[in-house]
Amino acid sequence: MADSASSLTKDASKAGERVGLKSDKITIHGGKPLRGTVDVRGAKNLVTKAMVAALLGESPSVLQGVPMISDVKIVRDMLGVYGVRVSSPDDGVLVLDPTNVERAHFTEIDALAGASRIPILFCGPLLHRLGEALIPDLGGCRIGDRPIDFHMDALRAFGAIVDKSYEGIRITAPDGLKGANIELPYPSVGATEQVLLTAVRAEGVTELKNAAIEPEIMDLIAVLQKMGAIIWLEPNRTIFIEGVEHLEGYTHRAIFDRNEAASWASAALATGGDIVVKGARQPELMTFLNVFRKVGGKFDVQEDGIRFWHPGGPLSPVQVETDVHPGFMTDWQQPLIVALSQAEGVSVVHETVYENRLGFTSALNEMGADIVVHQDGLESVTRRVPRRKLEQAAVITGPSKLHGADVHVPDLRGGFSYLIAALAAEGTSTVSNLGIISRGYEGFVEKLEGLGADFEFAG
Ligand code: EPU
Repeated sequence: MADSASSLTKDASKAGERVGLKSDKITIHGGKPLRGTVDVRGAKNLVTKAMVAALLGESPSVLQGVPMISDVKIVRDMLGVYGVRVSSPDDGVLVLDPTNVERAHFTEIDALAGASRIPILFCGPLLHRLGEALIPDLGGCRIGDRPIDFHMDALRAFGAIVDKSYEGIRITAPDGLKGANIELPYPSVGATEQVLLTAVRAEGVTELKNAAIEPEIMDLIAVLQKMGAIIWLEPNRTIFIEGVEHLEGYTHRAIFDRNEAASWASAALATGGDIVVKGARQPELMTFLNVFRKVGGKFDVQEDGIRFWHPGGPLSPVQVETDVHPGFMTDWQQPLIVALSQAEGVSVVHETVYENRLGFTSALNEMGADIVVHQDGLESVTRRVPRRKLEQAAVITGPSKLHGADVHVPDLRGGFSYLIAALAAEGTSTVSNLGIISRGYEGFVEKLEGLGADFEFAG
């Protein structure tokens, strides 16, 4: 436990260093509304996958709207290990040249492991290009057990052989990869991407049932279609992929980061502020906007973004269940919970996607919030999402007067919610392990400065 905690902290500070974060600790003087404009660029959860897709092309790809976040840097380094030349992001544009893909040494792959979960998505492309993929221990946010069984089962269905060794997982495909009929036990985002990235160059047709249909997945399909793939979207979460022999590079502007947009919206609400999120779009945020409105937030959809603000007066409690798209995303609940701590009455957030994504709330309680986590979830007559075994529920009673505290960032979204809570709280807070936030929030320090936040780097 101590080992994994210290390696997590190491990963976090490395993540911060990768994007030039001055320090891993920040002191925030809260109690002031955030006001101003922020720009959001491409979604972390599309950009990193589109970068992997470039491996499948026989010519260079150009990806636009790339944010300067450490997850992008990690995937860039991983691609470099396999001989893909990736330019430095210049004004959000990456050029990825996969013409000289080569085998990598396990030590090189392993050196980058622990920092991200994206390496798992290299499997299909590497099997097509090199006939072998080595998967080290995976990183990403510690938000409960994050198994990879759907991924491995899907790869086996394509004809891959999966061997576990002391180094990690070695996957080979001596007879090539063949189209398969796959039904996912749950509409997993990563497993759907795994199937897409593998099926596009497999021989024959793949039918994927119970696929994830998140907007970032639709954008990945758009990338693959630009490369030459043939992918049919059918009703009821079914996707057909006709394998092709060659794929070319693409030019693509990444879909905006709706998780970042929703985070700033919640920051406006929790601090009693007013934030214009440039680059945010309504269609991908519909479910979030419904909840934002029910809580009492106001928004105005503009041509190039969305303005979110607290109109004054009390906020209302809500009941929310996280779900796969088009439901309320699991990545939206953490910042929202801070705003719900200011609502008048009892709110309930059911986390149904991950098994341990409410642990971050204990630090909010240290700051004065009243949040009780039910580890086995809660029954509710009004809920729409079916209960899952792994789910938990948070009961948030408000309004609470938040005060400053010293808090340590546990994961990406929980960490951003600590920043919001510290900004909303009376008094001074210290937020440490800040590097984790740079995994997914581009220039968050500069953005906070632009919104009038009062803070300085500590230690
Ligand atoms: N699952 C399995 N077995 C698998 C794969 C998934 O049981 O082989 C389970 C998971 O344990 C979880 C559920 O399926 O209970 C959903 O997981 P999913 O595979 O959809 O998540 P993911 O692909 O690992 C991505 C995002 C997450 C986001 C989720 C849900 C990336 C890199 N990560 O994770 O984003 O929360 O989809 O939309 O795209 C974040 O950005 O902070 C983040 C964690």
